[in-house]
Amino acid sequence: MAVISSQSESSSAAAPRTAKLATAGLDADRLPRHVAIIMDGNGRWAQERGKPRAEGHLQGVQTVRTIVEEASQLGIEQLTLYCLSSENWKRPQPEVDFLMALLQQYLISQRADLIEQNLRFAMIGRREQLPAPVLHELDENIRLCSVNTGMTLCLAINYGARAEIVDAVKRIARKVEAGELSADAVDESLITDHLDTHAMPDPDLMIRTAGEMRLSNFLLWQISYAELWVTSRCWPEFEPADLHQALRDYGRRVRRFGGLK
Ligand code: IPE
Ligand code: IPE
Ligand code: MG
Repeated sequence: MAVISSQSESSSAAAPRTAKLATAGLDADRLPRHVAIIMDGNGRWAQERGKPRAEGHLQGVQTVRTIVEEASQLGIEQLTLYCLSSENWKRPQPEVDFLMALLQQYLISQRADLIEQNLRFAMIGRREQLPAPVLHELDENIRLCSVNTGMTLCLAINYGARAEIVDAVKRIARKVEAGELSADAVDESLITDHLDTHAMPDPDLMIRTAGEMRLSNFLLWQISYAELWVTSRCWPEFEPADLHQALRDYGRRVRRFGGLK
C-alpha cells in the first residue's frame, strides 16, 4: 500500500492521492488541515440491532481503522478522535472495563498499521486514572511513530476540555508564582501553548456522529472557529463516503473568522 504524506509527498505517492481526491469530488486546496471527530452512537447502533452495547464498541473500532486510513490517504494533516471523555467514567463499571480492554487491544493491534501508513501518534487527556498497561501501549505507539512523517493520529482519552483548561491555568499560575512569568504576559497564544494540544493546529472541521447537537466537553478552546458537521449515522456505520461528504461540505463553507469575505 502506498504511503501518503501531506507534508512530504513523493511524486509516486501523490498520484494515488490525486486519483482518490478526484473520485471523492474533493479539491486538495479546500481540505481541512485538522479534522476532529466525536465518535458517538456505538451503543445505539448495537441496541437498534438487538445486540449488547459492547458489540457497538467493537464495530466502532473497525470504523476507526477504516477512517484513519482514509483520512491519511486523502492527505489530512491531523485526525483527532474522541475515544473516552473525562465524564465517561460515570458509565457502569463493566462498560468502562470493556472500553479499557478494547483500547489496550486496539493500541497493540493497530501498531503495524501506524508504521505501515507512516502515521504520527499523539494523545490528549489526563494520564491519571488510566491503567498502567494502557499508558504503556500509548507510550509505545508515540515512541515508535515519532520518526514518521505522515498524518498525525491524535487520540483523546480521559479527555475533557474544561479539565484541560484547568491544567493549563495551573501550569501558568505555577510559573507566575515562581517568578518565571508576569501575569501581563498571559495572552491567547500563551494559553494555547499550555494546553494538551500545544504545537497542534486548531481543528478546521469538527464531525459528530449519531445526531446530537452538542460538544460534550471536546476541545472547547480549540474549536472556536471550527466548522461543525453532524450526521445522524452512528459511528459503527460511518463510512469513507460519509467522510467525503463532510469534506465536500466543508470545502463549500465560507470561513470569515469575524471578518468580511
Ligand atoms: C461513543 O458511543 C463511544 C464512547 C463514548 C466511548 P456511545 O457509547 O456514547 O454510544 P451511545 O451514545 O450510547 O449510542
Ligand atoms: C462523547 O460522547 C464522548 C465520546 C465520543 C468519547 P458521549 O456519549 O459521552 O456524549 P453525551 O453524554 O451524549 O453528551
Ligand atoms: Mg454517546
